[in-house]
Amino acid sequence: MKDIRIGLIFLIGAGFFVLQGNIEYGYSEQLSFNEWRYESFEAAFPHKEYESYYVDGKRTGQKRYNGKNHEGAVSWRIEGYERVHPNKEYERKYLDGIKTSETRYTGKNWNNLFFVKDILVVNKAYPLPADYYPGLNPDVLQAFDQMSNDAKALGLNIYLSSGFRSYRLQADIYKNNLNIYGQSVADTFSARPGYSEHQTGLAFDLNTISDSFAKTKEGVWVKNNCHKYGFIIRYPEGKQGITGYKYEPWHLRYVGIGNAEAIFNSGLCLEEYLGLTSP
Ligand code: DAL
Ligand code: ZN
Repeated sequence: MKDIRIGLIFLIGAGFFVLQGNIEYGYSEQLSFNEWRYESFEAAFPHKEYESYYVDGKRTGQKRYNGKNHEGAVSWRIEGYERVHPNKEYERKYLDGIKTSETRYTGKNWNNLFFVKDILVVNKAYPLPADYYPGLNPDVLQAFDQMSNDAKALGLNIYLSSGFRSYRLQADIYKNNLNIYGQSVADTFSARPGYSEHQTGLAFDLNTISDSFAKTKEGVWVKNNCHKYGFIIRYPEGKQGITGYKYEPWHLRYVGIGNAEAIFNSGLCLEEYLGLTSP
């Protein structure tokens, strides 16, 4: 008799446990799904897979690398814009991480991009569409790799500290700066969403994002040599009235070797070189 009672209590307990489990399971699945979801490859590191954290189905700013490296995969990557059709978006096929000659049109037409001399212009006068999301341009990454390898041979350590930034990420960055510094100060060093060159995939920040970078061995070398790889210091010293931003020795923009050499030798900033302003 005692055994039966113990058995019954056990069965009721187990039933309750299963029921509880189901209720909790159902609840967490339907109402409060906090989870990591695969999102995309990090634009700055095209082979690495990242996940975003969602709370109650809404994406947060939290991201993590999930350890997956797709270096050997066959992949299509957004390449930039075909020279003959500067506003059309193309992808290029990669095999085992190596660029092939095969390209395809992604169906996206960006008629509102502003080009001068084949240079995509983004400043306070010329914004990008919010859904413009090219990732860091692979040719730019290659030019950066070459520059950093040459620097390494001289004992210098040059690394990417901020590459491609989406409209959404720039919105978070600008909002944060706005809260800390107020609008008039924030606007001297932080672009509003849609107005950042980081969203072009053709610009990046190097090393420590600080004025002190200009005085480091790396900063001096970059200033005197980056043009050889197709880069310019986009916001040079003494040009704030024209570029709209204070000196950023760490922010490089890819414009191709020909343009970069011409800009370096002229001592002009990009706006002056192209005959534009950035109010
Ligand atoms: N710091 C530059 C201006 C940017 O936010 O894009
Ligand atoms: Zn920058």
